[in-house]
Amino acid sequence: MNPDAATIAAGAPIQVDLTPIAEGQDIKVFWRGKPIYISHRTKKQIQEAQGVALSSLPDPQPDSARVKAGHDQWLVVIGICTHLGCIPIAHEGNYDGFFCPCHGSQYDSSGRIRQGPAPANLAVPPYAFLTDTKIQIG
Ligand code: FES
Repeated sequence: MNPDAATIAAGAPIQVDLTPIAEGQDIKVFWRGKPIYISHRTKKQIQEAQGVALSSLPDPQPDSARVKAGHDQWLVVIGICTHLGCIPIAHEGNYDGFFCPCHGSQYDSSGRIRQGPAPANLAVPPYAFLTDTKIQIG
C-alpha cells in the first residue's frame, strides 16, 4: 500500500528515481512541505566542491560530509536559505551552486555558504540510497 497524498504531505518518506536527472541537472521535489534539491553534479562541480580550503568557509564542512560515500555525483539539500528562508535558485551565482536573490547569499556546488548574509550551509535532509539510482528521503 502506498501512502496517500495527505500522508506524504505530513511527512512520510518519499522515494525518488534518479535515472531521468542528467549530469549537470537539478530537480526539486517536496518532502514534509519543504523543497529538496537533488543535483546531479558534474565532475567539475565535484572537483570544485572537494578542492575548497575548509578554512575559507564560513560554515566549514568537507564535501564528503555532505554527500554519500560512493555517490559523489549526487547532492541532496533542503532548498531553504539559512538566512531568512527564501528558496535559492539552482545553478546560479559565483560558485556553480545556488543563489538566493533575496539578500544575495551564494552557496557552492556542495550547498555550502560562500558569500552573503546566510550563516550556515544548506541543510542535508535524512536520506539513503536504496539502489544506485533510487533514494529515499525521510
Ligand atoms: S533569505 Fe536568502 S539571502 Fe536572505
